[in-house]
Amino acid sequence: MKKLTRLVVMISGNGSNLQAILDACNQGKLPAKVVTVISNKIDAYGLHRAYNAGVPSVVVPWIKNQERSRYDKQLAQIVASFKPDWIVLAGWMRLLSNTFLKRFPNQVINLHPALPGMFPGTNSISRAYQAWEVRQIPHTGVMVHLVPDEGVDNGPLLNQRIIPFLDEDTLDSLEARVHAAEHEILVQTIHSLIMNGLERTIENAKSHSFSSR
Ligand code: GRF
Repeated sequence: MKKLTRLVVMISGNGSNLQAILDACNQGKLPAKVVTVISNKIDAYGLHRAYNAGVPSVVVPWIKNQERSRYDKQLAQIVASFKPDWIVLAGWMRLLSNTFLKRFPNQVINLHPALPGMFPGTNSISRAYQAWEVRQIPHTGVMVHLVPDEGVDNGPLLNQRIIPFLDEDTLDSLEARVHAAEHEILVQTIHSLIMNGLERTIENAKSHSFSSR
């Protein structure tokens, strides 16, 4: 039997995307195993999801005024100890410095609830909704990208999906569709990375841009 791909999933909150990955692994849709969940928040609900799935988790709390490079070095050591093939930032809400990233070249991927180049940082969905309300943008979307450096929500595209606005949309209904799309494209992207490798996944993302549903 082929060895399962080792995933370390990093979270800061609810962990619904973590759940999508756990479910896909359990259902045999992903030939992968979540070897640990890392959270920077002790009260992240995703830690319960990890526990319920029998997956170990480690909380690495940020201590105020702590040196950033020291935190990232410690974090990198913990992550490396689980020998990941891929590190998935699934709602990880802390910027990672090069101290961390240089240790895992071509191994870190991030999910962003907007299209490439749009609304980097926090509150992306509500910022997209506000932009749509004044007809600044025709649609929004979700993306998964590689994290090569310290750029915020930026890096080689691995997958994206357009999400059209609906006339009857409220922020809540938009959020629900964005999250549902995230759950799908995150699993789809990890699947492609495992089956096709990084280069082909990037190539496919270029040629299959803007699949909407
Ligand atoms: C997602 O929208 C992700 O794109 C963003 O934070 C949210 C995390 O959701 N960075 P969850 O914790 O996976 O439910």
